[in-house]
Amino acid sequence: MTKTSRLPGFYKVTVQERRSLVSEATGAPVEGIGAALEGGGLDAETADKFVENVLGTYSLPYGVALNVRVNGRDYVVPMVVEEPSVVAAASNAAKIVRAGGGFRAEADPPVMISQIQLFDVADVATAVRDLLERKAEILGLANAAVSGLVARGGGARDVEVRVLGEPSDRMLAVHLLIDCLDAMGANLVNTVAEAVASRVADIARGRYGLRILSNLCDKRCVRVLCRIPAAALLSDEMDGERVIDGIVNASRFAELDPYRAATHNKGIMNGVDAVAIATGNDWRAVEAGAHAYAARSGRYGPLAVWRRRERGFDGAADGGYLEGRLEMPMALGTVGGTLRVHPAARLSLQILGARGAGELATVAAAVGLASNLAAVRAMATVGIQRGHMALHARAVALAAGAVGATVERVATMIVEARDVTLEGAKRALGVLAAATEVAQLADD
Ligand code: MEV
Repeated sequence: MTKTSRLPGFYKVTVQERRSLVSEATGAPVEGIGAALEGGGLDAETADKFVENVLGTYSLPYGVALNVRVNGRDYVVPMVVEEPSVVAAASNAAKIVRAGGGFRAEADPPVMISQIQLFDVADVATAVRDLLERKAEILGLANAAVSGLVARGGGARDVEVRVLGEPSDRMLAVHLLIDCLDAMGANLVNTVAEAVASRVADIARGRYGLRILSNLCDKRCVRVLCRIPAAALLSDEMDGERVIDGIVNASRFAELDPYRAATHNKGIMNGVDAVAIATGNDWRAVEAGAHAYAARSGRYGPLAVWRRRERGFDGAADGGYLEGRLEMPMALGTVGGTLRVHPAARLSLQILGARGAGELATVAAAVGLASNLAAVRAMATVGIQRGHMALHARAVALAAGAVGATVERVATMIVEARDVTLEGAKRALGVLAAATEVAQLADD
């Protein structure tokens, strides 16, 4: 179990030192961290077993979000992401949330939807009645197709029938609800759909079409809540009360405008996807579910909203509080798929110490809410670009040809000059090179 995810000064030390600190905090052996991450965690030979026509692998940065506390437990959270500032922002916001006691979260049972499309149905109303009457038979067939899952305690739980369009369209969607335990479940659910479709079509006196999972897995949602005292939100320029007002205002913007809601949700997915990728999960599935859920009312809206509250979780009422609330589908697995073969994905689960898919879902969602908080807080105060540019500057310095310690020096120079551009970085490199030359001449 993670001792603490508060590791002050973590960003200032070397990669090797960070590995030691994470090892100490989480119990993941330091040699294991090095071995699993060297070369991006995947060799070409293993990659060749994953996908087709492999030429090699493509690495992305692997960082960890710190300060994350969910349901009273600390997590060091692996994140794989190419965008500067996402990991720092999540860690920083998680630290702010700790001031209010951390995140509270709950995950639904891991129930996925297996869809069977029926068309040319003789009579839609009769088909619905007959299918529901034969529920036990259909569930039996479904369970027989995934007997291993049933033996482990999962399996088919229910059948739902939806009439699509008008009765004259003669089309139904039959949903089999499958408890996938700690698996993401796509293969299990597809197996079930293919196994029962023929019998289901017979009962409905129709024909079957597609047999596949639904990524709108709204039976498998996760809910995360946090409450933060105003004092923890203050920035250099604004007191905490005004920051609360600014964040509530940002939330209202997203609630009233789908154009803003899309960007608001992108900020949430910065965190969620990074955890999904680090843990070897199918992040496109999570994305598809998230956005379909965001549009479930018929109008696209934010997955997380922010409100002012009078009290904290502990009942304290010293000044205002900010409450954040996120709800979204979260189909993540901690067994099967990529996890079996990708050493870095296995390492991520070890560092996290999550005991199952539900717990992983709560942590990923908490990082999503933290990412959202970081973005709306920055925008409600100094704007997003200041922090963004400070971190982006390092990438620009590298692109301009800076190496080693020069990267930080060039980055600092172009941020101070408010000129975070390739040309600015090249100029800064030139200045540093000239200064070094002068120093050398003086030495001679
Ligand atoms: C950038 O990756 C994410 C943000 O645009 C999110 C937001 O606007 O809420 C900053």
